[in-house]
Amino acid sequence: MRPASAQDKDSFGGALLEVHDLNVEFATSSGAARAVNGISFTLQQGMRLGLVGESGSGKSTAVLALMQLIKAPGRISGGRALLTGDDLLTMTAEQMRQTRFSRIALIPQGAMNSLNPVLSVRAQIDDLLMAHWEKADPEKRRQHVGSLLHRVGLPESVADQYPHQLSGGMKQRVCIAMAIALSPQVIIADEPTSALDVIVQKQVMQTLIHAQEEVGAGIILVGHDMGLMAQFAHVVGVMYAGRLVEIAPVHEIFSNPRHPYTRMLISSLPTFTTRKVFRGIPGVAPSIVNPTPGCAFRPRCPSAVDRCAVDVPAEELVAHRHQVRCHLAREVAPTSANGAAID
Ligand SMILES: Nc1ncnc2c1ncn2[C@@H]1O[C@H](COP(=O)(O)OP(=O)(O)OP(=O)(O)O)[C@@H](O)[C@H]1O
Ligand SMILES: [Mg+2]
Repeated sequence: MRPASAQDKDSFGGALLEVHDLNVEFATSSGAARAVNGISFTLQQGMRLGLVGESGSGKSTAVLALMQLIKAPGRISGGRALLTGDDLLTMTAEQMRQTRFSRIALIPQGAMNSLNPVLSVRAQIDDLLMAHWEKADPEKRRQHVGSLLHRVGLPESVADQYPHQLSGGMKQRVCIAMAIALSPQVIIADEPTSALDVIVQKQVMQTLIHAQEEVGAGIILVGHDMGLMAQFAHVVGVMYAGRLVEIAPVHEIFSNPRHPYTRMLISSLPTFTTRKVFRGIPGVAPSIVNPTPGCAFRPRCPSAVDRCAVDVPAEELVAHRHQVRCHLAREVAPTSANGAAID
């Protein structure tokens, strides 16, 4: 596996998934909550795109929308999501059923805890294969289950075990095996390692990336942890209050973060030299139901100016493949990789 840093940022294949102005809202008693507010990005073949942001920033809602898995009172209120040209958001239920797993697969948040406790691993993977390979004979499916488990570093004997007999890391590997079972073009992993300890986290991430590289897919990695993104993502998108506030290749975002929120996320990472402990970002997340005018980050922003209370910042291209939503994006002095300017 190559580290994220070794991949040239322009060496990816063609566009697999083009998301344009995606909007999702939830009806609440006090009005519509805009959980995803006009996000756009492109995932290319071989690319690992990280989506980070604090709890409630809309990461899961965005990826669930791509799979048409938003449940009432939520609804997709706008946008397009073209999977090699086909809009995922307008597919019929039957088209979506055929597309899920075979062209785009989601490992949902908490996936390892939603494995069916009364079915063996084999039965769960087999269900998925039967739904897509109606004519495949049982022996072919049996062999495929074995090969999938092998590809995620599990012995074939795991096929006959039940979820409660497996560790968290093993269950997460089973979820990865299911995601790659039909060699999709796009894999989405929502917090694939959040409930695991650090060592297992790394092993699971390596397994996921190895599997992604084997099937030649693009991947969207959802998480909280900028450190994990630095290690594994090629491109990082930062979400805040439903918006994608900054997106750039991983080196660019760490060496030249332009949004004050991104700078805070980076500066809160522990380093070897300062041995800082993670201290979080001061302030509370804003309301997405009745947002105050202007930039949603303004109340927590150390650099806010008058204009930030009035206008929502538009998306601006500040460098090659580097987009930011901040009125000061062109004015702030570039900081060191650890966001020293706001310390
Ligand atoms: N069923 C629902 N009804 C109302 N609001 C919802 C519902 N589901 C999600 N939301 C709102 O949508 C917003 C985004 O939630 P989402 O779960 O996408 O965030 P997230 O970034 O994935 O957070 P986390 O890091 O905790 O997983 C939140 O403000 C949440 O309150
Ligand atoms: Mg989530």
